[in-house]
Amino acid sequence: MARILTGIQSTNIPHLGNILGAILPAITQSQNHAHQSLFFIADLHSLTSIKDAGAIHRHTLSVAATWLAFGLNPENTWFYRQSRVPQVTELAWYLNCFTPYPMLANAHSFKDKSNRLSDVNAGLFTYPVLMAADILLYDANWVPVGKDQIQHLEITADIARSVNHRLQQDVFTIPEALINDHHALIPGTDGQKMSKSYQNYINIFLPEKELRQVINQQIITDSSLLQDTKDPNSNVICQLIELVAGTARANYTRQKLLQGGYGWGHAKTDLLQAILEIYAEPRQRYNYYMNQTTELETLLQKGEARAMAYAQLKLQQLRQALGYNG
Ligand code: TYM
Repeated sequence: MARILTGIQSTNIPHLGNILGAILPAITQSQNHAHQSLFFIADLHSLTSIKDAGAIHRHTLSVAATWLAFGLNPENTWFYRQSRVPQVTELAWYLNCFTPYPMLANAHSFKDKSNRLSDVNAGLFTYPVLMAADILLYDANWVPVGKDQIQHLEITADIARSVNHRLQQDVFTIPEALINDHHALIPGTDGQKMSKSYQNYINIFLPEKELRQVINQQIITDSSLLQDTKDPNSNVICQLIELVAGTARANYTRQKLLQGGYGWGHAKTDLLQAILEIYAEPRQRYNYYMNQTTELETLLQKGEARAMAYAQLKLQQLRQALGYNG
């Protein structure tokens, strides 16, 4: 049975890029009953950037609520918090000792973060190794992710091959990234990659009024007059409508803009309406789960017990191979 695994960091409420790039493709895969799905909240990775206990706790709940809002079925999915299966940190140590330093020093996500952030800690540097441990601990075959994670998946596969080779046994399954070409790189309101680190993300769970404000204020449009014809490609509005609600709906707005007599404000309202309509149910379910944290806790603990049982066996096998048993 193929294993599908992916994680979302709890650094914020998941944004539209996380949802379209990872959560929805992962849930679609999980509906194939020939697969075993493992979806988790990467709350240990969050510590590389957040040191506030309250924020980590709140965001962990919101990532969990988002998974459930978009249809994760806890009956057939192992749904867990990374920090609650601490075997992953032991595995990360073993993997660290098989990871060449230059491989991490050259990782572009580290280079990018170390240029941008003031807190350049060692956790940020070894981030890809913990991610490799997340994946290799459970023998995942497929990892649905956005384009920004491709290099991390390559590093994971390299580490797995290296351990198998050095230990002369197939301890680890070699995983592959599962990338949906259309949704691999969702643009933010400024046209750059949508990211928590930039002020360009859309939180689709905001109340309508605040969501309208985000769309109106963050998407910068030219100063053409209402009657002017407009280039639909001069900003991301139509692209985002297409990603959320499909081509037909985006083409409607594109046509109107090309004809003239249709302002950027109208186009922004089209985007707002698309989000409110298409995500009406997930928005409701998200609020439901955010108010039912006891239910969330119970669901997660069930997933954590399943994940831990597997993790313990895997580590036993590895300890044996490394000479730490018996
Ligand atoms: P994170 O939380 O930064 O992102 C979660 C997922 O969302 C995808 N994503 C995007 N996809 C398309 N367009 C975007 N603009 C966009 N922004 C984010 C990311 O590619 C990712 O799939 N390192 C991971 C978390 C992680 C993980 C793992 C993932 C930890 N361990 C093991 C898979 C397997 C990350 O940065 O997530």
